[in-house]
Amino acid sequence: MLHPQHQTRLLVAHAQAALQQQQPQLQQHAGWPAFQARLQVHLPVLAAELHAVYGERADFLDVLGAAVLTAWQGWCERSAALRALDAQREHEPPWFTSERAIGAVCYADLWAGGLAGVRERVPYLRELGVTYLHVMPPFQVPEGPNDGGYAVSSYREVNPRLGSMADLRGLAEDLRRAGISLVLDFVFNHTASDHAWARACAAGQPGFEDFYIVYPDRAMPDAYERTVREIFPDEHAGAFSQLPDGRWIWTTFHSYQWDLNYANPHVFNAMAGEMLAIANLGVEALRLDAVAFIWKRLGTSCENLPEAHHLIRAFNALARLAAPSLVFKSEAIVHPDDVLSYIGPHECQISYNPLQMALLWNSLATREVNLLQAALSERHALPEGTAWVNYVRSHDDIGWTFADEDAERLGIRGHDHRQFLNRFYVNRHPGSFARGVPFQDNPATGDCRVSGTCASLCGLEQRDVHAVARILLLHGVAFSSGGLPLVYLGDELGQLNDHGYLQDPARAGDSRWVHRPAASAQRFAERLDAATDAGRIFAGFQRLVAARQQLPGLRGGALVPFHSGNPHVLGYLRGQGAERVLVLGNFSEHPQRIDAAVFSAGPAQTACALGGTRHTLRDGLGLAPYALLWLRYPET
Ligand code: GLC
Ligand code: GLC
Repeated sequence: MLHPQHQTRLLVAHAQAALQQQQPQLQQHAGWPAFQARLQVHLPVLAAELHAVYGERADFLDVLGAAVLTAWQGWCERSAALRALDAQREHEPPWFTSERAIGAVCYADLWAGGLAGVRERVPYLRELGVTYLHVMPPFQVPEGPNDGGYAVSSYREVNPRLGSMADLRGLAEDLRRAGISLVLDFVFNHTASDHAWARACAAGQPGFEDFYIVYPDRAMPDAYERTVREIFPDEHAGAFSQLPDGRWIWTTFHSYQWDLNYANPHVFNAMAGEMLAIANLGVEALRLDAVAFIWKRLGTSCENLPEAHHLIRAFNALARLAAPSLVFKSEAIVHPDDVLSYIGPHECQISYNPLQMALLWNSLATREVNLLQAALSERHALPEGTAWVNYVRSHDDIGWTFADEDAERLGIRGHDHRQFLNRFYVNRHPGSFARGVPFQDNPATGDCRVSGTCASLCGLEQRDVHAVARILLLHGVAFSSGGLPLVYLGDELGQLNDHGYLQDPARAGDSRWVHRPAASAQRFAERLDAATDAGRIFAGFQRLVAARQQLPGLRGGALVPFHSGNPHVLGYLRGQGAERVLVLGNFSEHPQRIDAAVFSAGPAQTACALGGTRHTLRDGLGLAPYALLWLRYPET
């Protein structure tokens, strides 16, 4: 066994030799010293992670050499402005844990008519306090259905309907100048079936046969399908689709989205090249799409396997070498233990928080905070240097991904409760205020998920008097519970479901389109008019934004649960000392009280940072229906 230091030296020497073969003048290259310094730190990590997946191969050192070469090429192509950003970020605390960090997400076309339109709306993003903008996949897609951009035909070309590569670069620059980080997807589990690699694979072109997972008959597909979940059963049963020549290909999502075969190291290296090209457009965070699915093993669920983690950490090591300021966001909509497993400084630095998202909706439906309060106590803490992305809804459906064992402890039966939540949100439950639509209703398994905009699910569509307060309550938790809040643009104006997708054959089969409405010019115009829904909701968002920005207690992610003693009132403390904040939220349509004794260890008086109301806690506290309070609550 070699001493690690010697091992590092050997690895670096090997990598340098591999690079020198391509570039004899390596030592004279201006980018080399910085790259070499980073190799010392990150190459051992890259080597270990790749070894865990490909170490058995006789050509393992070539695999490693190829990855280092990809990183070097990526670094050589990185612009001076991005290298300056890399240097700056190295000395700053992570930008995504700041109390000033606020995220937003949009489809370029639906929200602004295209990339040029998004550039024109930068002033609006600033008005909203946005510092992070996720633009849904803008790359080339097939004609017809393309899963909202998640079937990528080329990672090097922009969908002409949205604009050009120059527009995308220009947007990245405009945003950076405005202090907004551009976030794009890294759709790396699959490509579109018309990607050049896919065409080459289908045609049996040498070198591409193993880029995807293809079987001559049903034997292996049947064996795998005994244990894998169906993601889009409406479109195709199981996890495979049949090719015109009769063979079967792995398609976790739609039949036109072919899963890449990461057992082939050339696939890893090819995707690493695409990743760095995307980063070099000026993208500061990559949303790692469908992380859970990238590795398959017979007899397992083919989700969350150890190799998936090794590969993501290998991608991360490449980012550290070639695009040091880049961060990864995990999109794992899975069991909470598995969600957590992707989060770490060496894997994904930020992650969607699907548990909090689902439990916010759960609390609205049940009017009880039990599950949410328990999740904040037990499942909120994250490793240093990482953060949650807290959201109320995304472009995807809402799935009830809480852990059955957590529910069980509170006397809730997971399966039955999910059925209730589905009925409640698709308005099959008497008295429900929600107007959602079922997604992937699967009678065979009883699975179902929910589509709908925030406003439609909160009751705005049927003019429920509490709808606006519900919208602000959910967002108020996302804005204060620790991490980076993420707003689906349009929700800040109360946009409703749009059933127009049913008229479009490319979309009609996918109810997620109901909650992806085109931006409403009318609501936008009404945003400063307090007599309108849009105006009332927007004013509430502005209060959340302004208060968040001036409460250092909301920085970072740590949270201390605060038990209100009232089953309808959520509570948690953020920050410390003089900056501490107490958040309280009433999830019911009735006024609630909290006993004075609950506040015995706190200050006698306080003011709410959302609006300034003063409260004397010696007398206990009353909360209006769906009230949300951010109380200044210094440690005494
Ligand atoms: C992710 C996306 C979703 C897409 C799927 C396949 O889950 O969020 O919209 O359908 O990946 O790419
Ligand atoms: C499943 C997947 C998730 C994907 C979603 C799309 O929940 O786990 O990755 O976004 O389906 O509906």
